[in-house]
Amino acid sequence: MSVTEDTLQAWAREYQDKSPQQILKLALEQFDNIAISFSGAEDVVLIDMAKKTGKPFRVFTLDTGRLHPETYRFLDRVRAHYGITLEVCFPEPAAVQEMVNAKGLFSFYQDTHEECCGIRKVAPLRRKLATLDAWITGQRRDQSPNTRNAVAVAQADKTFNRPGELLAKFNPLANWSSEEVWAYIRAFEVPYNELHEKGFVSIGCEPCTRAVLPNQHEREGRWWWEDATKKECGLHIGNLDGK
Ligand code: ADX
Ligand code: SF4
Repeated sequence: MSVTEDTLQAWAREYQDKSPQQILKLALEQFDNIAISFSGAEDVVLIDMAKKTGKPFRVFTLDTGRLHPETYRFLDRVRAHYGITLEVCFPEPAAVQEMVNAKGLFSFYQDTHEECCGIRKVAPLRRKLATLDAWITGQRRDQSPNTRNAVAVAQADKTFNRPGELLAKFNPLANWSSEEVWAYIRAFEVPYNELHEKGFVSIGCEPCTRAVLPNQHEREGRWWWEDATKKECGLHIGNLDGK
């Protein structure tokens, strides 16, 4: 069966109430050229679930060069624990060099995270996705009431698809809450990033992520100096316009 946008929409409806494991299984069965996008945070549950399917799977991560030391250690721990190759995607050195030489290492505090995320995250993601037919993310609706409350479990990615071609995007955790993710991590003794023991909930780059206080929303720990309604770095920018 060739997968079309209609197929993805039909799966989104059919799998809406199914478990993350069932959604992941569907994705891995339907696409050979597919990979999990792993940020080094609690989305590690996707790797644990993929391992338990017994099917081959690939994992990539975007190393912005600005991750916490704890995250680098965790990425390597996950690689060894699951015996996987972690496909690390680096930014274009010339683009980083030009930005940093012109504006210094913390320009995002002055002119927003857009340019830096564009160079360090979005461009490398675009390059990676150009080689894939489908990707799997750890996005959840409860991560951001403003931008992720309509995330579907399966969708056509209209931001990163090659012109005229379909790029499928699966979000198996879309309907899971943070509580469910953490119950899974504890129940199956899944390794986790030590930053979670230091008050971090959502984890991104070191200069742009901070711990949150009790009852603060996890997204408040990301790009806290910017408008609270638009906290997407560009990886999932389609969430903002429904694509
Ligand atoms: S972000 O857009 O705000 O940075 P978030 O941290 O919520 O994203 O993570 C949501 C999902 O995006 C992750 O589960 C993962 O699939 C993907 N993602 C985010 N950051 C990275 C990264 N550095 N490398 C690979 N995937 C990432
Ligand atoms: Fe740059 Fe911050 Fe974006 Fe990381 S999160 S790529 S450091 S602006």
